[in-house]
Amino acid sequence: MTSRYINLSSEGEVGILTLNRPHVLNALNRELMLELVTELERMEQDDAIKAIVLTGSEQAFAAGADIKEMADESAISMLLKRQFAVWDRIDGITKPIIAAVSGYVLGGGCELMMSCDLVVASDTARIGQPEIKLGVMPGAGGTQRLTKAIGLRKAMELLLTGDTMTAEEALRCGLINKVAPVEMYFREALKLAQRIADQPPLSVRLIKQAVRKAQDHPLAEGLDYERHCFHLLFASDDQKEGMNAFLEKRTPQFRGK
Ligand code: CAA
Repeated sequence: MTSRYINLSSEGEVGILTLNRPHVLNALNRELMLELVTELERMEQDDAIKAIVLTGSEQAFAAGADIKEMADESAISMLLKRQFAVWDRIDGITKPIIAAVSGYVLGGGCELMMSCDLVVASDTARIGQPEIKLGVMPGAGGTQRLTKAIGLRKAMELLLTGDTMTAEEALRCGLINKVAPVEMYFREALKLAQRIADQPPLSVRLIKQAVRKAQDHPLAEGLDYERHCFHLLFASDDQKEGMNAFLEKRTPQFRGK
């Protein structure tokens, strides 16, 4: 399958996916989402890729789900199309995904950003869930992920008013990791991805999984899972290499095994 709406590239061990539907501010239609998830899963299988950057344009990361595509749907047609099933597959990606966002980050665009592991935003980003203004509500995780990320009061305010946040506000709320000038945000995201790509891959994978457990599971269950992952890493060559390198005062050479 060739991607119509996703541009692919890489730098070193970082795979780069760029949303490319500029005439509608990267509105996320079903075809784009299927292509995106297919490419993410392809990168997941590619041993040469250790981290992924997901980005859009300076003007828009994404202005939401495609309103034109949804306008005439009925409850039953939406149910049967299972439009969001494809979104759930993003959670199956074990490699870290770094969102590099700028401009409009709205509705499904904000939900897509929140599905990523880390976020670098440009100082021009406007982030929010304006679905209420369309007579609907978020359907790709917005009420859940936003509330977990920034707490009940602020999430309630954004979701009930449809207001947007600046990148600085989003940083203060803990919704994103970093703000950079618009001409720098993509490079900053790439730098962050490259630093993570240089880490031992098995540790990266299990840390991502364990942190995600903290979001969804009671503490005792999460602690148990973390301990299991910790023990599992002692079956890896990289654990021997990392600890021996420390003791021998040299730089470790990790191989993801
Ligand atoms: N879906 C489809 N088309 C969209 C779109 C969307 N979400 N957002 C923008 N577009 C299109 C516009 O229709 C317009 O197309 P035409 O040139 O063919 O008319 C083009 O993109 C440019 O948009 P505007 O002319 O509106 O640009 P603007 O600069 O005046 O405004 C904006 C930009 C504030 C982002 C405005 O476009 C807007 O409010 N967009 C909708 C945002 C929104 O409500 N998103 C939530 C969608 S629902 C959702 O996401 C559900 C979910 O949970 C998954």
